Amino acid sequence: MIRIKTNPEVELIRESALLVSGTLAELAIMLKPGITTQMLDKRAEEFILDNKAVPSFKNYRGYPFATCISVNDAVVHGFPNNNTIKEGDLVSIDVGVYKNGFHGDSAYTFGIAPVAEEHQLLMQATRTSLLLGVEKAIAGNRIGDISFAIQDFTERQHHYGVVRELVGHGLGKQLHEDPQVPNYGKKGTGPKLRENMVIAIEPMINMGTRDVIYDADGWTVRTKDGKFSAHYEHTICIKRGRVDILSSFDNIIQNENANQSLYSGY
Ligand code: MF3
Ligand code: CO
Repeated sequence: MIRIKTNPEVELIRESALLVSGTLAELAIMLKPGITTQMLDKRAEEFILDNKAVPSFKNYRGYPFATCISVNDAVVHGFPNNNTIKEGDLVSIDVGVYKNGFHGDSAYTFGIAPVAEEHQLLMQATRTSLLLGVEKAIAGNRIGDISFAIQDFTERQHHYGVVRELVGHGLGKQLHEDPQVPNYGKKGTGPKLRENMVIAIEPMINMGTRDVIYDADGWTVRTKDGKFSAHYEHTICIKRGRVDILSSFDNIIQNENANQSLYSGY
């Protein structure tokens, strides 16, 4: 069942989504070679709690951390750990927060400079695919229009691999609500998009094969061929003739540009 939100509910989801964006922007300041993903997770959790919210992911179906930090061939749901970040790494950070009864969910892939040119292109194409999907998220379209836009650009135009096992989703009072938002599909298919539906769109795009394997931890998703993967996610609200992006990359990009240790495509 797809839950349509009231305008006040959308504003509460925006507050949560913007807190996620603020958390990612905070991490963008700290990212540099030598830092561990555990240190980033600790800072994220502290920042979220300081802002009178709780991390959505912690204890969600037994997930043990505030953030998912997926480095290089890790696609999503990576466990923060003691490994240090190094030059050339792609660090995908996914954050969710729960505040005032509503969740926000967003993710961003950071490149630790210098980033190989093929990985720069992967990051740029994944970001572009998210925006192409977001553009289709208007009332009257269908979920498949979003899915097709993402798949067409990344798979057909760029020959990257679109992960099939994980999808975007509705969100609100629950972190995962209907509908599912696959990153592959056919135009004109799937649930009709209606005003004030709130969904998270999150393409997970692989350099090589779309196939993934799971680590022994039961969570970390990795590319089967060991090639790198990128992941960007926005929480958005569907409107008539336009889309309202509830999360924001603006401050993340600003801090990314100010941090000499990070590659920024902007
Ligand atoms: N953005 C991811 C998702 O929507 C993060 C979930 S991590 C989990 O699935 F730990 F909460 F599962
Ligand atoms: Co999500």
